[in-house]
Amino acid sequence: MTETVNIIIDGKPISVPSGATILQAARDAGIDIPTICYHEATTSNALCRICVVEVENSRVLVPSCVATVNEGMKVETKSERVIRSRRTILEMMDSTTDLSESPEILRMMEEYQAVPDRYPQAMERTSLPIDDNPMFLRDYAKCILCWRCVQVCADDAQYAYAINFSGRGYDTQISTFYEITLPESTCVFCGQCVGVCPTGALKPKRQWLLEQGRTPDEIMDLTRSERRARRRQTQSELSEKA
Ligand code: SF4
Ligand code: FES
Repeated sequence: MTETVNIIIDGKPISVPSGATILQAARDAGIDIPTICYHEATTSNALCRICVVEVENSRVLVPSCVATVNEGMKVETKSERVIRSRRTILEMMDSTTDLSESPEILRMMEEYQAVPDRYPQAMERTSLPIDDNPMFLRDYAKCILCWRCVQVCADDAQYAYAINFSGRGYDTQISTFYEITLPESTCVFCGQCVGVCPTGALKPKRQWLLEQGRTPDEIMDLTRSERRARRRQTQSELSEKA
């Protein structure tokens, strides 16, 4: 039989399985907590902190996507401190990153009345889109470093380990090792990273070409010739090694 613990969220007494996260407990009780870096198919790393809640007797706000429930825990998901913290996180994100293709985050900006460009002196992400393969495009000016793509590329799904964090502080970004191109890396082009990216930083090449105004026929020709060129290069590399 599953052991349960009794907690109170926003004044509502609930009974949840021991070991559940506060986020799971809240959602099961119909209480909404916003998430960004959390994805049900990836391991949570508590990187964005949008899901923070106030827990009685805790000095700091607690990331609900990783913190687990304890017997008698009292949680506030919408206190003044929580709301202010979420608003600040959104404002910092918006001041540094191109969120134009992040509909969920833009909706949160409205809900939390976050002021766009609140920190005009913040250093913006300015990297150019990386177009190094026929399958998808990487535009890290739109990346919020949620790490979902790294997780699915690694132990959560594909075990390819083609990408990871590189750099520090403001210069942190997702990259291949030694910044080699994706075709040179261990990437198998499964597309799972594209599927979990919440910001449009990763997108199918065909979608990107359509957005650039290319016709479907042009796109077919372009991606077909890219694939042929790539295949020829791989074959010549293999015959060099043989
Ligand atoms: S590329 Fe997308 S999925 Fe990967 S860390 Fe950036 S925002 Fe997250
Ligand atoms: S959703 Fe919990 S820290 Fe990002």
